[in-house]
Amino acid sequence: MAKGSLQELYIDELRDLYNAETQLTKALPKMAKNASNAELRQAFEEHLRQTSEHVSRLEQIFDMLEEKAAGKKCLGMEGLVKEGAETMQEDYDDLVMDSAIIGAAQRVEHYEIAAYGTAKEFARLLGEDEQVSLLEQTLEEEKQTDERLTQLAEEINSEAQEAGEGREEEGEKGEGKRRAKTSSRRAA
Ligand SMILES: [Fe+2]
Ligand SMILES: [Fe+2]
Repeated sequence: MAKGSLQELYIDELRDLYNAETQLTKALPKMAKNASNAELRQAFEEHLRQTSEHVSRLEQIFDMLEEKAAGKKCLGMEGLVKEGAETMQEDYDDLVMDSAIIGAAQRVEHYEIAAYGTAKEFARLLGEDEQVSLLEQTLEEEKQTDERLTQLAEEINSEAQEAGEGREEEGEKGEGKRRAKTSSRRAA
């Protein structure tokens, strides 16, 4: 039989989020480990602690609804986590890697922001005020994390760019030397 109520959709969305958050409790430590910038690493460690809190807020909501939390796989988050893992396999220099990891992490945060916004609105329509406030707390933390990552990206991206330019200059100098060698050989 087709699912006919918003309540059922709400529970499906919550199960999807629960699975997404659980996936993140495994993915965030890997991001922290691969980050070179100390502040970025701290940001991931801090968000890992928040993420465990997000899982337990969802568990509280399932308790209130007398529903089980398990039963859905969040394919969207699975894809984002896989992309992040693929990025971390790339042979980027440390600074460029940090920029790449921030890009992957912000995709995750935006996904969560969209999902919590949807779930919160369903909870509001269903008159589940306590659940609205739990979802709101998590939504705020996702937004703050996204903003923190934007701030860190401003600093880290420009460092990565400067380092890259430095290497290009060195590369040019190296080429200059090679050219000089060739011409001196030719002169000899
Ligand atoms: Fe979260
Ligand atoms: Fe998050």
